[in-house]
Amino acid sequence: MKGYGILAAALIVALTPVLRGAAQTSAYGGANDFNAYCASCHGSSAKGDGPIANSFRKKPADLTKLSLRNNGVYPADMVFKTIDGRTPVSGHGGPDMPTWGDVFVKSSESSNAEAVRQRIDSLVKYLETLQDKK
Ligand code: HEC
Repeated sequence: MKGYGILAAALIVALTPVLRGAAQTSAYGGANDFNAYCASCHGSSAKGDGPIANSFRKKPADLTKLSLRNNGVYPADMVFKTIDGRTPVSGHGGPDMPTWGDVFVKSSESSNAEAVRQRIDSLVKYLETLQDKK
C-alpha cells in the first residue's frame, strides 16, 4: 500500500499546475473553450469550416458573419441562447448543434448555473471579437 501513497503524492504534484491553471481561467477563456469545443465544427477561425463540418446535413454556421447577417448589430442574446441550447432559438442552431448549457453544467469547471452563464458569456464575447465588418 505504501507504493500507492507515493503514487498519489506524485499524481498530486503532477496535477497541481493543471488544477491551478483551471482555477486561474475561472473567468473562462472564451478562446480556449472555442478551440476545445467549437472549432471541430465551426473551424478555428469560426468560418464554419472545421474538420468535421461536412458531416452534417446543414453546415455549421460561419460565426464571423453574425453581425453582418443582423444588420451590423452583434446579436449577443441570440448567440448566448443558441450556445446554451436549452431554450431552442427558432432558425438558429438545430439538431446538430450541441446543447452546451447541458454539457457545461456537467463539467467540473462550471458545475453551477452561474458558472455556466459566465462560461457561455465568455464565448459570446470571444465571438464578438471575430465579427467581419464587411
Ligand atoms: C458537432 C458540431 C458543432 C459543434 C461542436 C458546435 N456547433 Fe455550433 N452549430 C453547428 C451547426 C450544424 C449549426 C447550425 C448551422 C445553421 O443552422 O446554419 C450551428 C450553429 C451555431 C450558432 C448559430 C449561428 C446562426 O447564425 O444561427 C452559433 C452561435 C454556434 N453554433 C456557436 C457554437 C459555439 C460557440 C460552439 C462551441 C461551444 C459550437 N457552436 C459548437 C454545429 C456545431
